[in-house]
Amino acid sequence: MFLKGKRILIGITGGIASYKVYELIRLLIKEGAEVKTVLTPSALNFVSPTVLSTLSGKESYWDWNYRRPLIHIDLAKWCDAFLIAPATVNTISKLACGIADNLLTATWFACHKPKLIAPAANSVMLSDSIICENLKRLKKAGVEIIPSDEGLLACGDVGEGKLANVNLIRDYLVKALTPQRWKGKTVLITLGSTKEYLDPVRFISNSSSGKMGLALAKAIFYQGGEPILVAGDIKVDIPHWFRKFTVDTSEELLKLCLELFPSVDAVFMNAAVTDYRFKETFRGKLKKKEQTLKVELDPTPDILKELGKRKDNQLLVGFAVETENLIENALQKLKRKNLDAIVVNPAEVMGKDRYEGILLTKDGRKEEIKTSTKEEGAFLITKKVAQIFMEDPQWERKYR
Ligand code: CTP
Repeated sequence: MFLKGKRILIGITGGIASYKVYELIRLLIKEGAEVKTVLTPSALNFVSPTVLSTLSGKESYWDWNYRRPLIHIDLAKWCDAFLIAPATVNTISKLACGIADNLLTATWFACHKPKLIAPAANSVMLSDSIICENLKRLKKAGVEIIPSDEGLLACGDVGEGKLANVNLIRDYLVKALTPQRWKGKTVLITLGSTKEYLDPVRFISNSSSGKMGLALAKAIFYQGGEPILVAGDIKVDIPHWFRKFTVDTSEELLKLCLELFPSVDAVFMNAAVTDYRFKETFRGKLKKKEQTLKVELDPTPDILKELGKRKDNQLLVGFAVETENLIENALQKLKRKNLDAIVVNPAEVMGKDRYEGILLTKDGRKEEIKTSTKEEGAFLITKKVAQIFMEDPQWERKYR
């Protein structure tokens, strides 16, 4: 959905990590993007134009000898975004100084579309003060610098400098092509289920996967915000580049949310908090006996309600699953917990791939969201929340 029909120009420079671009091209093509590649002369030592053009289905360029002297202009006009991956320190420095001595660098300066670079080099080279200055200069000029990864480098050293994971590069491309509605906002997103223990090995919980919470975090990232994830038990992998905390019980979730709350701009409370906990918990493993075991359950703290009480300027968005009276029940929760908005999902779509929900706001708006994936659903929710609460000047005046 996010990259369908988008035209991505990938510039490849002469670094050992350039072989990973093959995988990146496959990923982008699978998502429906169109990809063209432009190489520096030294990149030819590391990747093959034949492989690149086979994977992308388009010619690969590295020189002007195509009888098309204006190819750099054509490529710059063709693309929606220009990414250089990997970017060597040599090319980074040329770009920072305005040097256009090959087809890739000339195309860069001819291009006024969103531009990104994914640096890759030995950590000592990347942390050199001149290179850091050059990167800062590019950033100041509006270039998105995709952070390199840490790990074992091709030279055998361990440190920062690995080309970013191709999935992260893909996420940055989506970000570059998406309106930045959440720019500068820090957003707390809770996800997954909490556990309430009877003894060290037994607990009650629920089957929430955390998939929707992760989709919300990605949607916020695509739109320029900084997501902070607080995850209970989840069945999805959270990419390591997201800021993440993990919790086990509702009490831990409450503590962390209260700690983070003053420093965030919005909260999407997507965690499926277990509603009850055992009145008594046992330190040792409970032994099986012949008699009936009677346990008592107490309600867990209502985290969202606690946040609602402490709300200052933060936007609070809750989620509810209902089997009947969807809107009525959800509106009661919105009021009881002092929320700005709530998204209610019909119970029958739980566990399905498609997404269905109704966004209800404090001022009586109602938006139905039906999409074929949770990713699209999460994107629309975050987009609409931003449009209603942050882009509408009326809202600030009327309701804050
Ligand atoms: N929630 C919470 N703390 C709880 C229970 C729920 O913060 N102890 C949050 C959920 O994360 C969700 C919203 O409140 O964003 C609504 O959750 P839901 O379970 O639908 O509401 P409850 O108040 O628990 O009501 P009920 O289970 O009776 O429908």
